Amino acid sequence: MKALQYSEYGPSSVLRIVELPEPQPGAGRIRIAVRAVGVNPFDWKVRSGAFGDTTPSRLPMVPHSDAAGVVDAIGEGVEGVAIGDEVFGVAVGGSAAEHAVLHEWTAKPAAMSMAEAAGLPNVVETAGRAFGLLGLEKGQTLLVNGASGGVGIAAVQLAVARGAAVIGTASERNHDFLRGLGVTPVTYGAGLADRVRALAPSGIDVALDTAGRGAVAELVTLTPTPADVVSITDFDAPKHGARVTDGSQGRAWATMREVAALYSEGRFAMPVERAFPLEEAAAAHDLSESGHVRGKIVLAL
Ligand SMILES: NC(=O)c1ccc[n+]([C@@H]2O[C@H](COP(=O)([O-])OP(=O)(O)OC[C@H]3O[C@@H](n4cnc5c(N)ncnc54)[C@H](OP(=O)(O)O)[C@@H]3O)[C@@H](O)[C@H]2O)c1
Repeated sequence: MKALQYSEYGPSSVLRIVELPEPQPGAGRIRIAVRAVGVNPFDWKVRSGAFGDTTPSRLPMVPHSDAAGVVDAIGEGVEGVAIGDEVFGVAVGGSAAEHAVLHEWTAKPAAMSMAEAAGLPNVVETAGRAFGLLGLEKGQTLLVNGASGGVGIAAVQLAVARGAAVIGTASERNHDFLRGLGVTPVTYGAGLADRVRALAPSGIDVALDTAGRGAVAELVTLTPTPADVVSITDFDAPKHGARVTDGSQGRAWATMREVAALYSEGRFAMPVERAFPLEEAAAAHDLSESGHVRGKIVLAL
């Protein structure tokens, strides 16, 4: 099968198309014929070698983990899914290939495109996990710093669906888009806390930081306690009393099912800013790294 691979850490030019044997699903797993692959910042961070010292990858490796496709092999003990079903989920051993083995998956709503589905697994899981930590409840006011990226868009829609009032930061070109999701937009950057206080005089209950860049110091001044702020990207957040999550304490994959149901009710959608062929994965990584994508980038097979 055709697969994307790299043999050394480095810039996006280390990505190559290679031929590999098709993987086989072990017990509890399924294999899909991949139709689309989601691009997450984690994918190019790993490729760059950013985690090479702490959690080295076994090279060469097939990058990416999010994918959508058609089930074409089923491992021992798996129930509730059949050959030919359309699913989206998370791969072991890389998803950027013609076939991938999934360890978590959810049925894709028929009306959802493969591209849109491929972008969902990690961002919706992350939003669900962060809300679990924050104890987000109906009627609360949530601030999402970085509301127009993959995790941000997943988070604000989930929060609105769960009955929260949501304020979200983005650059001004994304404000109308956020309003369309039922979110009150606010511009990020210095002075954020004052702008948020003006929008929410009775305060913010909980805050999710998806963007880092020093914002946590201001976010903790807005919530009842600093621990009511969770960052997914600023590993210095605990210095301000905020919490950080990287998924090592457990994942919230069930959020994929919640989002599939919301999609079918017309209450969730994920914009795909651009789809690239597998052969142009380097350009996809570079665009993701530019840091201003609205929604998701995917690789289409
Ligand atoms: N810890 C975990 O478990 C976990 C899980 C998933 C992701 N992450 C990390 O979380 C981060 C976000 O992931 P993602 O997939 O949402 O990334 P993404 O889709 O690439 O995020 C892009 C968005 O970031 C916004 N942005 C850029 N600069 C900003 C700033 N200074 N303040 C607020 N927003 C800003 C942009 O908005 P504008 O275009 O409007 O500027 C853009 O919409 C990444 O660092 C990723 O590695 C961590």
